[in-house]
Amino acid sequence: MYVAQPIEWTDEGVVMLDQRRLPAEEISHTYTDYRGVAKAIQEMVIRGAPAIGVAAAMGVAIGVLKSSATSVEALKAEFPEICDALAKTRPTAVDLFWALERMKTRFNELLQSHADLSAIRDAMILEARQVHREKLATDEAIGRFGAEYMPKDGQVMTQCNAGALATAGIGTALGVIRVAFEQGRKIHVLVPETRPYLQGARLTAWELHRGGIPLTLITDNMVGYFLKTGKVGAIVTGADRIAANGDTANKIGTYQIAVLAKENNVPFYVAAPISTFDLSIPHGDHIPIEERPAEEVTHLQGVRIAPDVHAAHPAFDVTPNRYIRAIFTERGVATAPYTESLKKLAAAPAVSAAR
Ligand code: MRU
Repeated sequence: MYVAQPIEWTDEGVVMLDQRRLPAEEISHTYTDYRGVAKAIQEMVIRGAPAIGVAAAMGVAIGVLKSSATSVEALKAEFPEICDALAKTRPTAVDLFWALERMKTRFNELLQSHADLSAIRDAMILEARQVHREKLATDEAIGRFGAEYMPKDGQVMTQCNAGALATAGIGTALGVIRVAFEQGRKIHVLVPETRPYLQGARLTAWELHRGGIPLTLITDNMVGYFLKTGKVGAIVTGADRIAANGDTANKIGTYQIAVLAKENNVPFYVAAPISTFDLSIPHGDHIPIEERPAEEVTHLQGVRIAPDVHAAHPAFDVTPNRYIRAIFTERGVATAPYTESLKKLAAAPAVSAAR
C-alpha cells in the first residue's frame, strides 16, 4: 500500500515533500542548512508532531555536518545555537523537544568519548537517521495495538492528518486505520476538513485515497451530524502532547469532536508514540498552545475569504482525559487512570528498530 515519504536524509541534504502544496503538486525541497530546516518546520513544509521531531533531528545533523567549525571546541560552541533555532519553531508538539534532547545527549556522549570532528559528524547523521527509522517501527506497533479497537465493519472518524505525512512512518491514527484495513476490516473513514489549514481535506484525504482506503470528506461543522447518526464506530486522532494525567493536545477542533463523541456514545481514541508524552506536566493547562498567523484563517491558499478583520488562530486545543477511552502507544494501550497507565508505559522497554 502507498506510504507517503515526507522527509529523507540524502547525500545532497534533507529532502522534504512540501506539504503546503499538496494535493495539487508533489514538490520536494532539499535543505543543506539548519536554518532552512527550522524555517521549513515553522512554515509547515513539514508538519505533524513525530515528523517535526524527525526534521529537528535531521536539522541538528545537517547543522553539525555543514558547520564551518574546524575544531571540536568550535563545534561545541556552535551546537546550542543550532538546537535553539530548531527549538523556536513550533511550541506545542513535544516530539520536537524530545528529538532535540536525544541529539544533544548523543552529542554529549561523543564529546565525552573524545570523538574527533569527522566521527562526530558521522555519528550525528546516524542518530538522526535512526530517529527516522524508529518512527516506522513505532507506528507499526501503535497500528497493531489500535487496530483491535476498530470496528469490523463501519465508519471511523479522524481529525487533521495523523498519517505518514505527519510521522515519517505509516502514521499514528491513520496507521491504526491502515493496519485495521489491511487486516480485512471494512473501514470507511470520515475525514473532517480541519479548518483553517485543511490538513484533513488536503492531506488525509490525499493519503487515504492514494492508499485505497475508502473515505468521505466532511466539513468540520458536519461532525455532530455524523456522530449523531449512530453509524460511527470509533474516532481515532493523533496527539501533539500528552500530559501526565492523559489530557491531550491535538489539532484545533479535536476537543469538540471528543465532547460530541461522549454525548453520542462513540469511543474516542488517541494514537501516539511515547515521544509525545510530557510527564513533566501534571495536566493539559500547562501545554503551550501555538498561535499561528491570522492570515491562515482570513485567506485560503493566498485568496482572501474574509474582510480585513481580527482573526484568531490557536492551532491546537486540549481534550481532557475524561473524554478519551484509550491511548494507543507502541508499548501498549493506556486507559484511565492515565496517571498510572502512562507512567507504566513510559517505563516499559522501547520498541527497537534495526540500526
Ligand atoms: O499543525 P500540524 O499540522 O502540525 O498539526 C498536526 C496535528 O495536530 C496532528 O494530529 C498531530 O501532530 C499528530 S501527528 C501524528
